[in-house]
Amino acid sequence: MRKPIIAGNWKMNKTISEGIDFVNKIKDLGDNTDVEVLVCVPFVALDSVKKELGISNIKLGSQNIHWEESGAYTGEISPLMLKEIGIDYAIIGHSERRQYFNETDETVNKRVKAALKYNIKPIICVGETLEEREENKAEEKVKTQVINSLEGINENEMKDIVFAYEPIWAIGTGRTASSEDANEMISFIRNIIEEKYNEKIAEGIRIQYGGSVKPGNVREIMNQPDIDGALVGGASLKKDDFTDIVRF
Ligand code: PGA
Repeated sequence: MRKPIIAGNWKMNKTISEGIDFVNKIKDLGDNTDVEVLVCVPFVALDSVKKELGISNIKLGSQNIHWEESGAYTGEISPLMLKEIGIDYAIIGHSERRQYFNETDETVNKRVKAALKYNIKPIICVGETLEEREENKAEEKVKTQVINSLEGINENEMKDIVFAYEPIWAIGTGRTASSEDANEMISFIRNIIEEKYNEKIAEGIRIQYGGSVKPGNVREIMNQPDIDGALVGGASLKKDDFTDIVRF
């Protein structure tokens, strides 16, 4: 049985004090042990949010992670630094990073390896553009992203990996993929993993859907057999919406 995982991706939102205030209000969402809940917050707020979460079961994630431990990489944050804060997860290869910050499959793979080395669980984001979907190239695109991101990752490491399928055209647009379409792609990703590894790993890996998940559509999405959770952007910034989503 795969445990559902609902992650809030705050993106570049909330100051440190706003973040502390927010998690203070949602702390008890961690009490439901049937769902894993996590918040992925801006780097500067990680430490304070971690302290505010205290013994709450809510997990903490970053929105990126560099592959080197230290060095001349102005503006980057290393896995060693993130480990010291005590984060659990790192979003890697979000489409906004691919689109605006030149993230490639190769750098995604390096970041995945670095995160695993520091016992930080990667949430690897994949997804096609609208153009690719319309040209029937969605599966090809997602397959390439999945395979490249897992280059050199062994079977044992796979238990710590989460995938998030986020069709780019559904992010922040209010347009959701139909739950059936999302399930189909997620099942396709599971098959790729089975081909590359084995059935046990494919059955165990958790794959989220992301893209305009809201209280009104979360249940339908979560009811799909292959969808194991949601990566939630906009709706994770509002206490009531995020609460409703976690309690789907
Ligand atoms: P959205 O963002 O829920 O605002 O569409 C999802 C994401 O980008 O992770």
